[in-house]
Amino acid sequence: MKAVAIFPAAGGARLIEIAKPAVDVIDDGHGVLVRVLAVGVDGTDKEILAGEYGSPPPGDDYLITGHESFGIVEAVGSAAFGVQPGDFVVATVRRPGTSVYDAVGRADVTTDDTYFERGINLRHGYLTEHYVERDENVVVVPAGLRSVGVLLEPASVIEKGIAQAYEIQRRFPVWRPRRAAVLGAGTVGLLATMALRLRGMEVHTFANTGRPYLNADLLEAIGAHYHAVAERPFVGSGTELGPYDIIFEATGYAPIAFEALAELGKNGVLVLSSVTGGKHTVSVDADRLNLEFVLGNKVMVGTVNASREHFEFGVSDFARAELTWPGWLARLLTHPVKGLESYEDLLHTLNNGKGVIKVYCEVSA
Ligand code: BGC
Ligand code: ZN
Repeated sequence: MKAVAIFPAAGGARLIEIAKPAVDVIDDGHGVLVRVLAVGVDGTDKEILAGEYGSPPPGDDYLITGHESFGIVEAVGSAAFGVQPGDFVVATVRRPGTSVYDAVGRADVTTDDTYFERGINLRHGYLTEHYVERDENVVVVPAGLRSVGVLLEPASVIEKGIAQAYEIQRRFPVWRPRRAAVLGAGTVGLLATMALRLRGMEVHTFANTGRPYLNADLLEAIGAHYHAVAERPFVGSGTELGPYDIIFEATGYAPIAFEALAELGKNGVLVLSSVTGGKHTVSVDADRLNLEFVLGNKVMVGTVNASREHFEFGVSDFARAELTWPGWLARLLTHPVKGLESYEDLLHTLNNGKGVIKVYCEVSA
C-alpha cells in the first residue's frame, strides 16, 4: 500500500510502498484495522516538511506524516472493545512515554521530554491507505459526521483547552462565563469560537485580515463578532467591550499572549494553544500585570495534544454544531486534494494555497 513519507536527511516528501498491516500486529487482540478516508494537514506538517520539527521512528530514515485522521474500521481483534467493523473513527496522536501521567492514560499531559506522536515524532502517521491502532486509541464517530470527521483532531486540542478552563474554574462555587475573545481566525480560531458559542458565550474573534474574508463570514454565521485588528485592535478591547471571562489564543504569535494577559477580566482564564518555535521577546508592564493577576484571581493555561475524552467532547460539539448551524463545519474544508499520489499538490496547497482554512487529502472514498 501507498504512504506519504518525509525524509528529513534527504529532504522532501515521497510516495512510498509499504506492507498493509494486519490487525494482529497487535497481538493481544486489541488491534483495530482502519482504512483511511481523509487526513488533514496543518502547520506542524509544514514544520516537519521544512525539517524543523519531528523525527522518524528509530531505525527508519523516513516519517509517514499525517496526524489528523479519519477512517473506517475494516477489522478488529478478538478482544477489541467498543469498536466494530464499519465504524467511523478518528485516532488519537500521542502515545505513552514513562511518566506517571502516561501510566494512567494521559500521555497528553506527560512530563517526559520526549513525545511519541503518530505522524509527528518517532511514530508513523496516518497519510497511508490503512493503519492499525489499539482500540483505546480510536474514537468512534457517528456516521452523520462522516463529511467533517477529519476536523476532529484539531478540534480535540481546543476541547482540551476549554475543558481545562472549566476544570480550573471549579475552584469557584460558580463560574458563568459570558464573554470570550478568540485570537486568530484560522482552523483553530474558528473551531474555538464555535465551541465557545455552543457554550452560550458572546465571542469576539480577532485576526489581521480585513473583509471581505470568508473566515469573518463563517464567524458571523455562528453569531460571533469578527474584528480585523486594523479596525478594532485587540489591545484595549477588554475595557471597551467589557471584560473577557475567557481568552483563547490561537495566532501562533507569542507576543499576543502577553497582551492578552492585560485584557483578561477578573476570575478569567487565558488559554494558550500556539506552538511557537520562534525567538520573539517583549517587555511587559510586570507590576501591573502581576497585580491584576493577583487581585483578579486570574489563570493562564496551555493546551497541546488531547486525550481520548477530548476527542469525544469534539464529537459531541460537532453533533451539536451540525444541529445548530447545519453545514457550517463542512465550509471549513476549503481545500480537498484527492488521493495519496497527489501529495505534492497537498503539500504545495498547505504552503501556498489562497484562502485556505483546511487542506486535507481524500485518501479513499
Ligand atoms: C498536533 C498535536 C501535537 C502538537 C505538537 C499539533 O499539530 O495537533 O496533537 O501534540 O502538534 O507536536
Ligand atoms: Zn496538528
